Amino acid sequence: MSILSKIKELFTLSSKVNNGGGEKANMKQAAMGKMTARERINTLLDPDTFFEFDLFVKHAGKDFGMDKKELPADGVITGTGSILNHPVCIFAQDFTVAGGSLGLAHARKITKIMDHSIKMGIPLIGINDSGGARIQEGVNSLAGYGEIFYRNTLASGVIPQISVILGPCAGGAVYSPALTDFVFVVDKISKMFITGPEVIKTVLGEEISMEDLGGARIQSEITGNAHFFANSELECFEQIKKLLTLIPWSNLKRADQFPPKRPKAIYEIEKVIPTDPSRPYDIRDIINSIVDDSDFLEVQEFWAANIVIGFARLNGETIGIVGNQPLVLAGVLDVDSSDKAARFIRFCDAFNIPLLTLVDLPGYLPGVDQEHAGVIRHGAKILYAYSEATVPKMTVILRKAYGGGYIAMCSRHLGADFVFAWPTAEIAVMGPEGAANIIFKNEIAEAADPNAMRKQKVLEYTEKFANPYVAASNGYIDAVINPEDTRKILIQTFQLSKHKKESRPQKKHGVPPF
Ligand code: HXC
Repeated sequence: MSILSKIKELFTLSSKVNNGGGEKANMKQAAMGKMTARERINTLLDPDTFFEFDLFVKHAGKDFGMDKKELPADGVITGTGSILNHPVCIFAQDFTVAGGSLGLAHARKITKIMDHSIKMGIPLIGINDSGGARIQEGVNSLAGYGEIFYRNTLASGVIPQISVILGPCAGGAVYSPALTDFVFVVDKISKMFITGPEVIKTVLGEEISMEDLGGARIQSEITGNAHFFANSELECFEQIKKLLTLIPWSNLKRADQFPPKRPKAIYEIEKVIPTDPSRPYDIRDIINSIVDDSDFLEVQEFWAANIVIGFARLNGETIGIVGNQPLVLAGVLDVDSSDKAARFIRFCDAFNIPLLTLVDLPGYLPGVDQEHAGVIRHGAKILYAYSEATVPKMTVILRKAYGGGYIAMCSRHLGADFVFAWPTAEIAVMGPEGAANIIFKNEIAEAADPNAMRKQKVLEYTEKFANPYVAASNGYIDAVINPEDTRKILIQTFQLSKHKKESRPQKKHGVPPF
């Protein structure tokens, strides 16, 4: 056979595999508003950069007639390519081939690309669209999942791992995304669940749709499994690119630097916080008045909204931001917001992203629900994460910093490098009302006019503690600053902390309150 005929043969064989499950299955995929696996890869990657691995791998199924079935590429496309000129490893499950179900060869294609991304120190992007473990392959499918989870864990903190849910992600399949750093979902398309509606109906007799069980909104608003919500696959890919411009491409690299830009003029920092200390405001307006170009990429925007987390640039360099959100539950810490912040802090620390913490909270949320939901165990995670983090840590106390909330939000005591307070800061064990009611209980009860006495005692307590100066006189904060100077001061302090080194006691690893 001549070289030309051999090339022609390769072209014919490749085209057959490239067509996935065939025209009919591809049309069904399109009718669901979904791109095919190959379209997804080629849309997300820089044009003509995809280099495919293992196109001709055959599936390993022998039972239930599988030996007679051809499953092109075994239902998963894997390879390398680039996004915004940076190399990435990528896989995309092909739902048109046996529902994208995961058999052993399918899993081995994924683990090969995972090993590659760990060795080369480049991000891993997994596009999930699958019915889960391939039922006909039995325990071999389970083995495949186990090998993926193992590598997700090895890769954790080494390379960014991004999961994109673009179809069902059922059964064991959900645990790989859950082990990765960022999960992207698309409205009406993404569905994540351990046991599907059929099983729920059989076992519990309850009827529920896939959408209501684990659709994109549920995962973004209720479970907190998803970090980014999009209305279309294209929007989702733009979100991924945006994230990748902000984070380092491995734990040995720094995020790309960009030319510094001033915040947009519409954000006037001193006008955001209301004069009445009980009135809420949007912490994102403060963030936008500090960061470059007022450009803040919020993570997990719709879940545990009483804390805001995300990435931005300050003077051209990426920082991670954690801020209490006075608009939601007065910005309290609770079970979910502690989990949300703690994981984010650990991501930033693992990838050497400096942290800025903006504080305005009345403390941990009181109540039986929270106590019974484990606010002690979950609340401890944020203490652990901040204490463990050795990246530069800057804290600005804007208004309230009461009780455990004061300590937890990256106080000096948890290792903050610089702590600043605005003149509006109130740092105390608890709010003046609650404090006066407790420590002046007898005086108030015995007074001729208890209400007037309570007011007087609240005022006394406010004058004594509801300010930043007691904390400043103890050195717990480094300076009381003019809000207008916040950006300038943060740029200076992040700059001088750039080469920060902090060593910790030798250990295999800590035991965080997972
Ligand atoms: C083998 C599967 C499959 C699976 C789907 N298919 N899931 N084949 N193993 N797990 C096949 C179907 O037989 C069908 O093949 C094709 O994929 C398309 O599936 P449909 O059902 O026609 O599509 P749709 O109606 O869109 O429904 C999609 C679905 C449903 C919701 C994902 O297929 C489903 O519920 N699948 C099972 C999900 C599940 O419970 N998985 C858990 C597995 S156990 P044909 O030949 O007709 O085109 C598990 C445990 C692992 O994952 C634990 C590890 C820790």
